[in-house]
Amino acid sequence: MNSYRFAGPLIRRLEPEAAHGLTLWALRHGLVRRRAKPDDARLAQRLWGLDFANPVGLAAGFDKNAAVVDAMLGLGFGFVEAGSVTPRPQEGNPRPRLFRLSRDRAVINRLGFNGEGHDAVAARLAVRSGTRGSGRSGVLGLNLGANRDSADTAADFEAGVRRFALQADYLVLNVSSPNTPGLRDLQARGQLEALLDRVLAARASARAGRDRPTPLLLKIAPDLAPEDIADIAEVALARALDGLIISNTSVGLRDGLSSRHAGEAGGLSGLPLFERSTALLRDVHRLTNGRMPLVGVGGVASGADAYAKIRAGASLVELYTALVFEGPGLVARIKAELAALLADDGFAHVADAVGVDAAN
Ligand SMILES: Cc1cc2nc3c(=O)[nH]c(=O)nc-3n(C[C@H](O)[C@H](O)[C@H](O)COP(=O)(O)O)c2cc1C
Repeated sequence: MNSYRFAGPLIRRLEPEAAHGLTLWALRHGLVRRRAKPDDARLAQRLWGLDFANPVGLAAGFDKNAAVVDAMLGLGFGFVEAGSVTPRPQEGNPRPRLFRLSRDRAVINRLGFNGEGHDAVAARLAVRSGTRGSGRSGVLGLNLGANRDSADTAADFEAGVRRFALQADYLVLNVSSPNTPGLRDLQARGQLEALLDRVLAARASARAGRDRPTPLLLKIAPDLAPEDIADIAEVALARALDGLIISNTSVGLRDGLSSRHAGEAGGLSGLPLFERSTALLRDVHRLTNGRMPLVGVGGVASGADAYAKIRAGASLVELYTALVFEGPGLVARIKAELAALLADDGFAHVADAVGVDAAN
């Protein structure tokens, strides 16, 4: 988008949260130009009965309140994951809580699930489905979180599944945000099994009228110990989860950062997360024997990055941080580069490249 050549440097000079607010405002008001170009047929894929025109999605956290889903699909994303959304509205942590690490091509955030809550998001999605024209395509995922002061975190996830099972194309249990105390403990085997039992029961009861249950994915942290990773893979297969999203932001990986804000507490995203999250993706692909679709996220900033995640085992990729530095033209660029890389290697369909590097 040409206007971004002028707006981008200005936006990046603003305090990061103000910049994000302005970006959302511009998107809501149609000031960001849509890209109408159809996707290369190589990029298309059907997963969970859903048609993805391309495998490049917007990661959770950009559109926490599902306010700009169609504007982001209009930029060329194959799917948008809105959220995380918590049952009740909450402010999140005190500001400042979002930091750009420009020299490191990274971001640190400790937002803490600031958001408008289930009611507001459900109302917005209801309006959207009411006005949805037949020509509009793109998949909507909804990422679920828990309130910080919740007495029963699993109940927050159950409530999210019940509330949104019929409004979202897929749902995500975010048990990996580092900014809500105790949340990541749900990744431990016993807690995870208990959580999934409750949430899967909620999904079954909310299924009404759908020919298949809403796909349910689990989003995991990049900082897990190897035994936890093996447990998660086993439990995910045993409970027949629909997929895993790998990964959320990291509480580690601070060595080697050179930006002024490198010492801030919170989750690190962007380039320094790429290697760790891709290695974890490869491990999980092996542990699950390719039996479960995986979503690769962490540091994707080019078609080559997306391709590396796909070859490591990702059926879909997502990104957020690179958008902050590169602007919205990045999406079309990644898709063009990815289509060319697939063609060079003789893959007719993106699905054929999934996991080719992961096999031992
Ligand atoms: C500002 C910010 C807010 C985020 N909020 C969420 C969130 O609410 N829920 C979630 O699951 N992930 C959240 N994430 C994590 C991203 O979805 C993604 O997993 C992570 O940033 C790695 O991808 P990236 O390197 O492309 O940014 C957030 C990331 C950033 C930078």
